[in-house]
Amino acid sequence: MDGPSGSGKSSVSRGVARALGLRYLDTGAMYRAMTWWMLREGVDLGDPAAIAARCAEPSIEPGTDPDGPTIHVDGVDVGGPIREADVTGAVSVVAAVPEVRVRLVALQREIIGAGGIVVEGRDIGTVVCPDASVKVYLTASPEARARRRSAEVAGSTVEAQQEAMARRDTLDSTRKTDPLSMAAGAVELDTTALTLDEVIAEVLRLVADQA
Ligand code: C5P
Repeated sequence: MDGPSGSGKSSVSRGVARALGLRYLDTGAMYRAMTWWMLREGVDLGDPAAIAARCAEPSIEPGTDPDGPTIHVDGVDVGGPIREADVTGAVSVVAAVPEVRVRLVALQREIIGAGGIVVEGRDIGTVVCPDASVKVYLTASPEARARRRSAEVAGSTVEAQQEAMARRDTLDSTRKTDPLSMAAGAVELDTTALTLDEVIAEVLRLVADQA
C-alpha cells in the first residue's frame, strides 16, 4: 500500500490486515524511528554523509500486530515521539539518504518474509515488494489529506498541514533513491469521497479478485 501522507494508508492497511487476519508493517514508522535516533544523537541532518555513517547503529524493531503496532529503538518505545513535529519535519531528509534506505529495506524484507502481511509506505510496490500479490496506490485531494491530518494532530490548522504536507510530498517524490511513485500493476484508489469502510471494502475486493 503506497501513497502520500494523509491518503489513508495506515487506517486502510490496518483495517485490511485485521479483516484478513494478516500482519501489518508501517515502514514510515521505521524511517521516523531512524530520524528520532539521529536527532537524539545530534547528527547533523544537513550532512547526508554524517547520516550515512551512523545509520547502521540503532536497532529498529517494529511490531506487526494491526490492533496495536509498536516501534522500539534499542529497546525504547518511541511510538509517541516519532509522531512529534521535530521528527515529522526531518524524516524526509533522513529517508532520502541511500544508505538509510538500503538498511531499512533489508530489514523490511526480513520482517515480510514469506508474506501474509499488509505493508504500507512509499516504495513498497516499486522496491520493497515488487512481487506483492496486490498493489494499491492510495491518493486523495490535497485538501482532504490536510483535513484528515489536522484532525489527528492537536492544535494544527488545515492550511498549515497542507503546506507541511506539500513540502514532504515534494521531497518524497523528487528524491533520487526510491521516490514515491505508482508501481507497475498497482491499482490507484482515490479516497477523497470515500469513507474508510468503503476503501477497505474495495481493497478486500481486489484481494478476493486475485485469489
Ligand atoms: O508514512 P509516514 O508519513 O509516517 O512516513 C514518514 C516519511 O518516511 C515519509 O514522508 C517519507 O519521507 C518516508 N518514507 C519513505 N519510504 C517509505 C515510508 C516512509 O521514504 N516506505
